[in-house]
Parts: sequence; structure tokens; C-alpha cells
Amino acid sequence: MVQTSTPRAPWWRDAVIYQVYVRSFADSNGDGIGDMTGIRQRLPHLQGLGVDALWLTPFYVSPMADGGYDVADPRDVDPMFGSLDDFDALVADAHDLGLRVIVDIVPNHTSDQHVWFQAAAQAGHGHPNRDRYLFRPGRGAGGELPPNNWESRFGGPAWTRLPDPDGTDGEWYLHLFDSSQPDLNWENPEVHQEYTDILRFWLDRGVDGFRIDVAHGMVKHPDFADIETDEETGLLGTGVVPYFDQDGVHEIYREWRKVLDSYPGERIAVAEAWVEGADRLLRYVRPDELHQAFNFDFLTAAWHAPILRKVIDASISGVTSVGAPVTWVVSNHDVTRHVTRNSDGDPDAGLRRARAATLLMLALPGSAYIYQGEELGLPEVTDLPDDVLQDPVWERSGHTQRGRDGCRVPIPWETARPNFGFTEPDAQPWLPMPAEWGALSVAAQNSDPDSTLSLYRAALRLRREHHALGDGEMEWVESADDVLVFRREPGFVCAVNLSAVPIRLDGRYDVLTASAPIGHDASGITLAADTAIWLKAAS
Ligand code: BGC
Ligand code: MG
Repeated sequence: MVQTSTPRAPWWRDAVIYQVYVRSFADSNGDGIGDMTGIRQRLPHLQGLGVDALWLTPFYVSPMADGGYDVADPRDVDPMFGSLDDFDALVADAHDLGLRVIVDIVPNHTSDQHVWFQAAAQAGHGHPNRDRYLFRPGRGAGGELPPNNWESRFGGPAWTRLPDPDGTDGEWYLHLFDSSQPDLNWENPEVHQEYTDILRFWLDRGVDGFRIDVAHGMVKHPDFADIETDEETGLLGTGVVPYFDQDGVHEIYREWRKVLDSYPGERIAVAEAWVEGADRLLRYVRPDELHQAFNFDFLTAAWHAPILRKVIDASISGVTSVGAPVTWVVSNHDVTRHVTRNSDGDPDAGLRRARAATLLMLALPGSAYIYQGEELGLPEVTDLPDDVLQDPVWERSGHTQRGRDGCRVPIPWETARPNFGFTEPDAQPWLPMPAEWGALSVAAQNSDPDSTLSLYRAALRLRREHHALGDGEMEWVESADDVLVFRREPGFVCAVNLSAVPIRLDGRYDVLTASAPIGHDASGITLAADTAIWLKAAS
């Protein structure tokens, strides 16, 4: 048979997807809170940046105890963000501009304001209305102790006791996060039915996919046994514990994949699964499960060449062994912005490294996620006053951890207006914006060829145009230990100098782009410390 055309790889295998933290992106109605219409008005920024899709963090009806990851009605838009009509208009405009839209789905828990939990709270112990959640009798003579020693990821016990309707002491319910986020019981078929219905609800409205919150959660080991308390599991854990990364979770994804595949146009799902190593991660992206899984090993890796080289190799050999692309990410709404994370206390070094890390990430094979504001080189805001902090981590940790608000500060769009164009000049943004952020605004960086915004635009344009970039393979080129050099065919080389001194790359190259000024003459290139470069090499 003669093949007349090469089938194009599915869009998501090399997509660059931009994370919109809805509350902080753009406010259209002057209430200080980002919203659907604000995003819609700013779509040209995303199109000009050159991304393929946006991921919207939860905008569903929510009391906002955990920034919307406490969902009270998963089928409607919270009035603070707009309406379903506004959502539909946003999706329509995005699609017209060639941008796909993926949305969050939160299956591990609901809000305690969800009708299911309200019904469970009103029912007594043993009532079927409680079977959608994880109620258990307490320990101790009067059931006054939690059923086991599991801890909330936000601090404190993972169990809260609920009185029975007659006022007597009742059972405890599990919440791996805030007490207002009760965990669902995935042994109950009704929960399965509900979530495939939610997938269909948004797929029918035209979304291109889902980001699955706490994708390694949901299924709990039936024993509900104590765990070793000295175990350091971090915010979302990694190791296999009785409540994370249980085998049963993969059955759910096989069910969901069938739903996604029943729609035209390659609808996708990406797992937020904080699991231990590439071998556990690849299980989430087997051909009959999810399309992508965030590669958090790359996000958490130190700015150190041997470590990065190892993580890159393990990541690629992991998920590609089951045919999936690697999904690179360096920042999101849960972690310290990478400008600050990799700075060793020196903001200039932080920005330099962040720009180099971006060129590294975008040159690697696979797909990549960008978190809003990283294209502006925004740092973490580390001096938010105590009384504006909203992350439940602050309260639940007994004011020992400040939480994640510092990476959620609204985006500066304009240079000199009060509130930098995020909201009306006389409004109060939901988190205060640093006074010096005018210089980092989109307007300030727009026409500056050396700005971080210009670097992202150039890199994303090259990534679209260059056949070597996106999905495919890479090969390391021998180099000093603290330098990363790799080649991709046809004719592309990426080099990153992670050492403290300039290095020399001998040979004749055309420079495609670089994260900082370079020296270039007929015999080679000089690359300063913490600098990455993309080169065109002879094939
Ligand atoms: C989300 C967090 C959220 C948590 C609970 C995480 O994976 O990204 O922002 O607090 O899940 O839903
Ligand atoms: Mg608003």
C-alpha cells in the first residue's frame, strides 16, 4: 500500500499548555478577582505567546476554602468567576484563536457544602447517604480518638468527628486535605457514575481535556491501617501509602479513558500524581489510561547538571516505555515559583537560571506546561502580610507554614496603572501586588527584545517551526559534568551551562536563541554561567 501522507501526531504529544490560575489572571468586573471574561479579554496574550492550550484551575461553585479545590457544584461556574454562558463564550473564543481548553477535575474529595456531604451530615451513622464518603467509628472507649493516625496534607489530623443528628457523638470522616474537603468513597459505584457524568458534562460543552487533581489519591487501602508517622510525605506525598498510589486507581482511569475516547478530537487527561519515581509514574500513562502525567521529578530536581541529566534520562525511559510523551513542568500554583526556588537567595541568579531552565524544558522531547506569570519571570512573593494569607496550610499548620499564596499573586498587565491593569484602579486585588511589579508587566516587557516575555515568545515560535523540537528523541553530547548538551535531529543542539564560570563551545553554529547574551565568533561560542542556548547544527 502506498502511503500518501504522514499522519500528524496527536496534538497533545508536544503541546505547550498554559496554566491559568483563574482567580489571579485578569479581572473584568472590578471585584479584585480574576474571572472568565477577564481570561477571554486576555486571550490575545496567550495566542501571541504561542501556546497550544490553556488549563483553567477550578472555577466551579465553591466556598473557596482551598482556592476552589473544594468543589460544591462541579457542573456550574461560581458567580465570582462568571456564568456557564461566560465559560462557553471563553471556550468559543479560545477555539476560534486555535487554542484548546482543558479544565480541572477534583475526584478525591468534594467541598463539605456539596449536596452529597450535606445529606451525609444530616444522616446518622450507618445511613446509605454516608456511603459516598469515608466515615469510620473512632477508636478509644467512647470513639473519641480518630480511626487511625493519618494526617491531613495541610497539617493536623486527617479525620474530623461529626455528631449524629440526635446530638450524640458520632463517626469520623476522612479528609486528606482541609476538614472542609471530605474524601469520597471510590468503592461506591455511585461515585464512579457521578464522575463519568461530570466528564461528559464538560466534554459536551467542548473542553479538550482534564487535569486530574490528586490523581494518585481516590482509592484507599481497605485496612485503613496506621502509617509510620516519621514518614516525610510532603504536601502531596510520593511513596505508596494506604491512601496514595494504590493499584485500584488505575481501574478508574481505564473507565475514564473510554469516555474520553468516545468523543472526537483527541480529548485528553493529565495526571497530577506525586508518586515515587518514573516507574510508578508510567503506570498512569499506559495506553488505556491517561495521556500525560506531570513529571514532578524534573520540577523538584536541583539546579545541578548531574542531577538533571539523571532525572531527564529516567523520565524519558520511564513514560516512553509505554508510548507516552514526557510532560515537563517547572512551576505551578502549589510550589515556589522557580525564579525564587533556584535562586540560592540571589534574585539575579534566580532569573538567569529560570530563563535557562525554560529553554532546557522547551527543548526536551514531549509536552510542557507553563504557569501563568513565568513568562514574565515573576518571582515568588515572600512578604505577603499574615492577615492576607488565604491558603488553608497557614491555619492548619498552626502558622508554621505560610503556604502557597506567594505564587498566586495576580498578574501585572500594565506598567503604571494602579493594580497594573489586573483589576480596576480603585479595586482591591484579592492578594496585594508588589509595588515593583509594574516593571515586570506584560506591557513593560512587550517590546523589549531582551525581556523574559520575548524569550518565551521566541522559544515557542522556534519550537513550532523547528522539526527537531517537540515529540521525538534526543541524544546527549559529551560535555563537562556541569554542562548539559544534547542533540535532536534534524540539526538542533541545546546547551546549558550550569557551572559557575563561562564555557566555550567549539564549532560553527547558527544561534537560534539564548537565555542571556553570549559571545560568538567564527570558531565557537562562549556561554556564561547559568545560560542556555539553542543552536542550529549541521545535520
Ligand atoms: C492542588 C492543590 C490542592 C490539593 C487539594 C492539589 O493537587 O493542586 O492546589 O490544594 O490538590 O485539592
Ligand atoms: Mg472579577
